[in-house]
Amino acid sequence: MVYKAENGGIFLEWIEVSGGRPLNGVLKVQGSKNAALPILAGSLLHKGRTILHHCPRIQDVDSMVAILRDLGCEVTWEADSLTIDAGNLCSFYVPHQWGEKMRSSVILLGSLLGRLGKANLPYPGGCTIGERPIDIHLAALGEMGVRITSKEHRFEAAAEELTGKRLRLRFPSVGATENVILAAVLAKGRTILENGAREPEIEELLRFLKGKGARIEEKEGVYVIDGVEELSDSEFCLVSDRIVAGTYLFAAAATRGAICLEDAPVRHMTAVLDALRRMGAVIRIGGGTILMDGRKAGMPIPYLKTEPYPGFPTDLQSPLLAALAVAEGESCVEETIFEARFHVVRHLNRMGADIRVDGNRASLKGVGKIHGTYVKAEELRGGAALLVAALAAEGTTLLEEPGYIRRGYEDIFADFRRLGASIRHHQYGG
Ligand code: EPZ
Repeated sequence: MVYKAENGGIFLEWIEVSGGRPLNGVLKVQGSKNAALPILAGSLLHKGRTILHHCPRIQDVDSMVAILRDLGCEVTWEADSLTIDAGNLCSFYVPHQWGEKMRSSVILLGSLLGRLGKANLPYPGGCTIGERPIDIHLAALGEMGVRITSKEHRFEAAAEELTGKRLRLRFPSVGATENVILAAVLAKGRTILENGAREPEIEELLRFLKGKGARIEEKEGVYVIDGVEELSDSEFCLVSDRIVAGTYLFAAAATRGAICLEDAPVRHMTAVLDALRRMGAVIRIGGGTILMDGRKAGMPIPYLKTEPYPGFPTDLQSPLLAALAVAEGESCVEETIFEARFHVVRHLNRMGADIRVDGNRASLKGVGKIHGTYVKAEELRGGAALLVAALAAEGTTLLEEPGYIRRGYEDIFADFRRLGASIRHHQYGG
């Protein structure tokens, strides 16, 4: 697609991949995007400094940094460390463009309420993978004394005093769990949250908040938060990104390569490593290192479904499809988290895959080989899956809209080049 660059010029960008080469080599895994975003929001709860190490330099983090600066924070990068000083936080108004550019800006709701008692945010809106409502967030915060008023595409949340309550989420929404925890940290009294999400990124948020003096305990998805008066300066090192690590492993399996991932969040990847073993990969673990021999990873997976953690993560469903497309035999993947997360299938089928979608199930007939063609990324993880397929395909693939992939992957094109891939970046105009 040809579109206008910021300076009004015509701008066209695509990635050219010459596929069919096994990926081999060693990579270090970047910091976790989905841990960084709620933790950056959480830094607003403290009238002082927070230093975050191992922060991924990706578009979504850049967007969150820009929002924090809009709200009055001082934020500086030094290599992969971010220093945030939220002492001068002076606004609770998140400009409109951030709702479209990054729907996870909704994660600022809990911390702005906790610090300022008010938040005025754009409705995040849906995206290609689903409607993405926030009713669970708003219902839970409403029980804590928050009043919500809607106006066009925005909403304002306000609470004279946030009060701890016993709450139960109807579904273990990751974002809603994070927003309730962030709102409860400085609230009056005790909040007990039942049926909360248990993703590793929330475990990270708890580790971060406790390191700042918050009083939080968790047991089997029940969170108990006792409000405190204030938090303290802190330094924190982010865990590595389990979805990025899994994407790289599926790419190596799809190209029948063998790779070593260093600084990988191994204990958060059990379901992913099990799926790779079912495909025939041989995996050895040592500390934070994953060694995977994917030379025989061409077996099908008769049935797998995505589930809340510790089940197989929905964010790796599309990269898994790409790897299964070039396996032998019949596989079936059921998506239970998002209602529209199979957009990538039509692009994979144009590459020669044989995938049928029926409701929330994708049935694949592994074709062994697929071929390069022109494809277009439509969202982050689907775009990553198309890159995995292009690396496995025979011939050349032109992948347009690579910007979607940069939202979550720090340097994926250079990383795959380090593993032997032939990837060229093209852009015209701008
Ligand atoms: C987080 O999104 C992640 N994003 C997503 O990763 C991830 O796919 C998702 O959790 C599930 O693991 C970040 O952490 C920034 P949810 P979130 O609230 O919080 C429905 C990526 O690729 N729902 O657990 O938005 C919702 O529609 C992204 O990195 C409601 O109905 O996920 C969805 O079907 C994509 N009402 C399901 O719950 C609500 O109020 C799971 O959503 C909230 C959610």
